[in-house]
Amino acid sequence: MVTLEKISALCKRCGFVYPSSEIYGGLNGVYDFGPLGSLMKTNIRNFWKKSLNATERDVVFFEGSILGGPAVWKASGHIDNFHDPMVDCMNCKKRYRADELSLDEPCPSCGKKEWTAPREFNLMFKTQVGAVSDESSIAYLRPETAQSIFINVKNVMSSNRVKIPFGIAQVGKAFRNEITPKQFLFRTREFEQMEMEWLCKPEEACDAFQYWLDQRQAFYKALGFNMVNIRFRAHEKTELAHYSKGCTDVEYQFPFGWKELEGIANRGDFDLTQHATQSKKDLKVFDEETQISYTPHVVECSVGSDRLMLALLCDAYNEEKVDDDVRVVLKLHPAIAPVTAALLPLSKQLSKPMLKLYFELKKKGYAVQFDQTGSIGKRYRRQDEIGTPFCFTYDFESQASNTVTVRYRDSMQQERVALERIEEIIKNAAVI
Ligand code: GAP
Repeated sequence: MVTLEKISALCKRCGFVYPSSEIYGGLNGVYDFGPLGSLMKTNIRNFWKKSLNATERDVVFFEGSILGGPAVWKASGHIDNFHDPMVDCMNCKKRYRADELSLDEPCPSCGKKEWTAPREFNLMFKTQVGAVSDESSIAYLRPETAQSIFINVKNVMSSNRVKIPFGIAQVGKAFRNEITPKQFLFRTREFEQMEMEWLCKPEEACDAFQYWLDQRQAFYKALGFNMVNIRFRAHEKTELAHYSKGCTDVEYQFPFGWKELEGIANRGDFDLTQHATQSKKDLKVFDEETQISYTPHVVECSVGSDRLMLALLCDAYNEEKVDDDVRVVLKLHPAIAPVTAALLPLSKQLSKPMLKLYFELKKKGYAVQFDQTGSIGKRYRRQDEIGTPFCFTYDFESQASNTVTVRYRDSMQQERVALERIEEIIKNAAVI
């Protein structure tokens, strides 16, 4: 029932996501987030951060730079290895990933079979820092947030009271010049990652890997995902990078099939060893107990917040037959829904108390909407479509009894509650 077309149309119509630079014809693979998308992304980030803080492990947060010099990306392997095979159609000039089509077939765009030979295309965006344009001014937009964490492990350890084992987590933009950005927010050229790098002793890495697998499973459950749409897929030995000691993808069943949502990887000491070699800095850690220096091992959990938003929207999307109508409803977790409650005076003469409450709740940081236009039924539908869990209606009975009706999004049931309970209801529901 749910299709990518329906989700992207809803996102545009309701102000979740717009194609970037739309009035100039758009920029392929890049999106802008509207008022509701911005609220939802903030909720996703907060949910993720809280899930890390809720464990009994120490995780500190970090914000690295987006620009990085060639040495960083040489050490990480991105300059030499971060490419996809690309072919061009010589007739219509369309570009494709060679691993995503058969060169025995005609071009899906123009129908001709005139392919260039496949060649490697590096996915990093290259730019220049400073006014002089030469080899020394080259920099790259980061293709992942992780590397800025690895090169700061020593800084973080010497400036904070953290000891191995501990994690460094970051939410931030990453950029990849994907040859074929596609499937809406699934594969874009500018996206956001939420990555956590867990640093531990070599002998602790296997247990840590299992620990974070369990934590991440709990995270998806807590987000309210229908767990039949989530699976954990361990990589085959042949899929693993040469340095990797194990990797499991969290996959979601998107309308276009099972696809990676998150990667959980036991990366060994590869990253820190690479940076130690390239920078000629000692990145080892001294173990007081054994009096031996060692290179910490890394377990990484890496998920894209835009891709996660798409999965959440697909999972929450429902079309339900109500009388002779179909209602579109997003059954999002109340802590993820962009708007937690709508305040609806039944008629314009009744707006004052709801408007007052709206400003009070907004001031306290609640995501609420005030809506007095259209029939109450239409207003409920508007809120259903954006996933608002509660609608509070102030009606003709309200003034005398100091009550409102609360209407629950999923059941559409209504009940009368005291006006002063509104804050408590939305506060409790949005707790993570
Ligand atoms: N540091 C490890 C790393 O970057 P990755 O599998 O390349 O691993 C991690 O990326 C996550 O980032 C993916 O699981 C996905 O959620 C997200 N991601 C990667 N490329 C993306 C793209 N082009 N558009 C949207 N999200 C992307």
